[in-house]
Amino acid sequence: MLLKTGRAGCSWVSGARFLAIGTMAMAGLLMSACSGSPQCVPESDIQQVVCERQQGFRDIGKNLKIVDDEVKSGDPDYQKVAESAMRIVETGKSIPHWFPEGSGPEVGIATDAKAEIWSDPDKFSAAYQEFVAESERLVSSAATENFTALQAQFHATGAACSNCHKPFRVDK
Ligand code: HEC
Repeated sequence: MLLKTGRAGCSWVSGARFLAIGTMAMAGLLMSACSGSPQCVPESDIQQVVCERQQGFRDIGKNLKIVDDEVKSGDPDYQKVAESAMRIVETGKSIPHWFPEGSGPEVGIATDAKAEIWSDPDKFSAAYQEFVAESERLVSSAATENFTALQAQFHATGAACSNCHKPFRVDK
């Protein structure tokens, strides 16, 4: 089995194995069943938590990039955009479970999560709710197949990501 060590000190089954398994849908299934999945093989429970959330955010990032590319093309595949937007919504539902107490910078694990997530939970929750609203609107705007609406909603969704990253993620 091909393993690669991530910066959080955990390992992921490589992309090559995903391709060997087959369709992206299958990869998606594995991804959503992340808990105890073969993708995160960390050395501790807390590393497992950090590994799963970073993996989850990468999945969200990958899907927003797909939408970005489609919007930039000027002639988006609305079906593709809708699928990626739905995936962002679905994966995003786990965000509230990704930040248990004690999974912040204080535990000395490679994480970009800031301590403010836990010291200002109301603000974090508000940023999360904004992301939920904007990503759901991204799904509906893809369904309208209206380019201007989609483009505007893509930007609003990206702004909702930044709205949480600025206060709560280490700026790199
Ligand atoms: C409610 C807060 C919040 C929202 C909303 C949010 N993020 Fe994040 N994101 C974070 C935090 C915190 C981290 C750092 C996680 C860590 O390192 O443990 C992160 C990390 C990431 C990462 C890096 C993952 C890695 O490899 O370590 C990507 C990519 C990312 N987010 C993309 C997005 C995108 C795209 C959106 C919007 C569609 C989004 N995020 C919305 C809080 C948020």
